[in-house]
Amino acid sequence: MELKLALIGFGVVGRGFTGILIRKRDYLLSKYNLRVRVVGICDLKYGSVVNSEGLDIIKALEVVRSGKSLEKEFDGVKGLGAVEFIDVSNADVVVEATWTNLETGEPGLTHIKKALSSGKHVITTNKGPIALAYRELSSLARSKGVKLLFSGTVMSGTPSIRTLIRGLAGCYVSEVAGILNGTTNYILTKMEEGLTFNEALRDAQMKGYAEADPTMDIDAWDPAAKIVILANIAFDSDLKPKDVIRKGIRDIKLDNIKDALRRGKRIKLIARAWVDGNTVKAKVTPEEVDINSFFGQVTGTVNAVMYRTDSLGDVYLIGRGAGGEEAGQAILADLIELNSILEESKLLTSR
Ligand code: HSE
Repeated sequence: MELKLALIGFGVVGRGFTGILIRKRDYLLSKYNLRVRVVGICDLKYGSVVNSEGLDIIKALEVVRSGKSLEKEFDGVKGLGAVEFIDVSNADVVVEATWTNLETGEPGLTHIKKALSSGKHVITTNKGPIALAYRELSSLARSKGVKLLFSGTVMSGTPSIRTLIRGLAGCYVSEVAGILNGTTNYILTKMEEGLTFNEALRDAQMKGYAEADPTMDIDAWDPAAKIVILANIAFDSDLKPKDVIRKGIRDIKLDNIKDALRRGKRIKLIARAWVDGNTVKAKVTPEEVDINSFFGQVTGTVNAVMYRTDSLGDVYLIGRGAGGEEAGQAILADLIELNSILEESKLLTSR
């Protein structure tokens, strides 16, 4: 099957995904019978171009790498804003990879609604729209007969969401807990090694882990959005990031960390969601955990999650949770899933 893609957002994530598409073109065809054609790229910085014949994505990466505008270097319909871009493109799938806004979800929320309403499947790595409007968006997708896939919103390519939805299908999950923010885990790890909070934060920013506004990490808004996404899937709840009890790592001092270490403990920023009677609760707070426990062994930028289930007990997953390549892998996995859903539905209708 061939899938035509329109990419909105050609930053670290959009480009990470494009790089994988280039490298794995033959593999996708031989293993999954999947051919991908990018029919449009729309980016605030590099411009927007739609070409229903398909764009040369190797050239697109080169153009952007050399700081040039896509609009100058490609033929097609140019200069459209994202909403018109979706309208004009003949894409089957819109890949939404713009920046996260946890207050309004915009502009990603509008892009996703527009794409779904136009009958296009959506794959997104954007946490804002999913944390704020999962119910609304999934019901819109259902009513339009299209798919909304968002596995990259929590732990990027490490399949936290796919494990919950597919791997644990049929399990009753009573609690979700995780280290879901790489920046704060990195800061806490580096402080153990003797760096000050500010030195460790600068380090995390230089390495590109931190959000554009690092208070989103430090004050735990980012892991709050992620635990909301997992909780709403696990418990069919409708939590919003503002419902999460939230305390970040701003007040943690070197002395607190050293004192915990002396007692065989580590301070970790743990996100939790659980069922309490008829309500679902969630919090993100620093917790002391045993050094030798599962979460105690998760250091640096690595993320981890635990699902407490009825049939399997506690199920654990650990892996990288940020980066262009990692988020690109999440988009690819969603695309392969979409391809197999579409292939299967073709088989059913041909019976
Ligand atoms: N700032 C986030 C983190 C990026 O540090 O985990 C990935 O969502």
